[in-house]
Amino acid sequence: PYFEELRGFRDLEIKIKQTFDLERVIITPGDSDTDPWVKDELGKRAVSFLQSQLNNKQTVAVTGGTSMAAVAKMMAPTDLGKGSMFVPARGGLGERVENQANTICAEMANKMKGDYRLLYVPDPLSEETYHSIIEEPGVKETLHIIKQANIVMHGIGDAFTMAKRRKAEKNVLEKLESGKAVSEAFGYYFDQNGRIVHKVRTVGMQLEDLSHIKTVVAIAGGHSKAKAIQSYFRQGKSNVLITDEGAATALIKDL
Ligand code: G3H
Repeated sequence: PYFEELRGFRDLEIKIKQTFDLERVIITPGDSDTDPWVKDELGKRAVSFLQSQLNNKQTVAVTGGTSMAAVAKMMAPTDLGKGSMFVPARGGLGERVENQANTICAEMANKMKGDYRLLYVPDPLSEETYHSIIEEPGVKETLHIIKQANIVMHGIGDAFTMAKRRKAEKNVLEKLESGKAVSEAFGYYFDQNGRIVHKVRTVGMQLEDLSHIKTVVAIAGGHSKAKAIQSYFRQGKSNVLITDEGAATALIKDL
């Protein structure tokens, strides 16, 4: 039965890979909505994938969120990251400190004996502050490194779950509602067709930068994220999806 399960996942992986035109899909058993430990398993699979990619001196950019925090948590100390650089992909986005990209990035670098640079910027930024802050030498240096990322790892969330968790202002919530936002990733909110509804103004990676990056890995599980995952991949800027059985089954059902 164990092998049957693995085989079953292989078929599911291939189906999702073809549907969303991805290079790699990895599915872990269970549903992280109902069993929180599944998120840790998701993290473990993401760690193995990352380690398989770290054969050279790489620059790894990471986002925040609980899925990415699970990736950092599940990392066992190793020196595979020696010579690699870890950076947050974008600013803090209003998350609690344990779920911020800075925290996750530092934890990963420490566990893998890599180096890291952080971004200390408030967000959302006003237009004016944005333009002056990107000229600050410390910020500029980190931004320069972010632009050189070879690997990006990020979460995908349900738009309204994320907006509420980040305590978005009323006008932002209204914008998300009228634009029928479905998903969120990198502080960008997308509708069901993958069109951008809203973008949190912060420094760091912009969506268009992803097109130049070889490996962009999305880590998102739980059946409640199926619509969000589908919406995010409509504009297809990531090429690897690490998910769980719950989300994967719901994704296929929706097709
Ligand atoms: O950036 C956050 C992600 O979009 C989703 O967060 O992993 O906590 O669900 P999560």
